[in-house]
Amino acid sequence: MLIRPMTDADVPLAEGISDDAFFALDVANRLPAAPPPERRSASHSAAWEARTRGFLASDPDGCWVAVQDDEVVGFATSFRRERVWCLATFAVRPGLQGAGIGAQVLDAALAYGADTPRGMLAASVDPRALRRYHLAGFRLHPQLALHGAIDRSVLPALTGVREGDADDLAWMDDLDRAHRGGPHGADHERLLAAGRLVVTTDRSGYAYTNGRVMALLAARDEDAARTLLWECLASAEERYEIAHVTSANYWAVEVGLTARLDLVARGHLGLRGMDPPSPYVHHGALL
Ligand SMILES: CC(C)(COP(=O)(O)OP(=O)(O)OC[C@H]1O[C@@H](n2cnc3c(N)ncnc32)[C@H](O)[C@@H]1OP(=O)(O)O)[C@@H](O)C(=O)NCCC(=O)NCCS
Repeated sequence: MLIRPMTDADVPLAEGISDDAFFALDVANRLPAAPPPERRSASHSAAWEARTRGFLASDPDGCWVAVQDDEVVGFATSFRRERVWCLATFAVRPGLQGAGIGAQVLDAALAYGADTPRGMLAASVDPRALRRYHLAGFRLHPQLALHGAIDRSVLPALTGVREGDADDLAWMDDLDRAHRGGPHGADHERLLAAGRLVVTTDRSGYAYTNGRVMALLAARDEDAARTLLWECLASAEERYEIAHVTSANYWAVEVGLTARLDLVARGHLGLRGMDPPSPYVHHGALL
């Protein structure tokens, strides 16, 4: 087994492993009432590759592959933003999992964050992943998700929100420093490309939404957080999803249940050197 830095040429191979691994995980964990899991769309794969190339450009020492018999069989991508290290994604080819490959490639990514006081990762439901993160010193906080058709009759009248733009990024980065120890910096570009940025007029919070999913929300207080989440719901399509909600963010559970979304438990937020941020709903890969 060779563990070496990821290169640009590895990105499509890593994307294929990621799609295979997460599809297999979804099939294995499908609830009886849930629709059958789907493979990644071509546009989703392209976005995954573009995001990974961004990590390679900004954090080449955080991105690693495992090679067996000249073939890439696993990878881990991670990045540092000032005082926080984040694991973006991590997978091993199905059929080769559970044999120690993940441990080795994750160790290489963890070493990149060794001097960073805080760490964040959004864990899948795979018990192998949870075991690895626990052994790496991460505390695992259960996550909730709210999803379903929005009851539009309960949407409140909102004031104090507007579209965000490039002039907002500096105070948004300060808010992220306060919540997680580091700014989103260049990651704002990726978030904006995938959706809409909404901010409070008094600069007390922001959220990214694409009409189907709330991607990220950070606020100074729960009133601002609730206002932003209601705005995301008001501008959503018929069905919406708010994932990655820790119990420290119960305000999001209250809003989602008021809008008649269904509440389920899904995955864990892994943290070291910090408590679950609040009011803050993290992004799955850009945390
Ligand atoms: C998570 C993943 C990357 C880990 O890689 P891996 O090569 O399987 O991991 P390892 O074999 O190094 O470690 C797995 C650990 O779980 C244990 N394990 C193996 N099979 C298991 C099972 N079915 N249930 C629980 N634990 C299991 C292993 O013994 C090992 O623990 P140990 O080191 O104490 O012996 C890989 O399983 C995967 O791709 N999963 C699907 C995608 C995913 O969930 N990625 C994580 C995203 S957050």
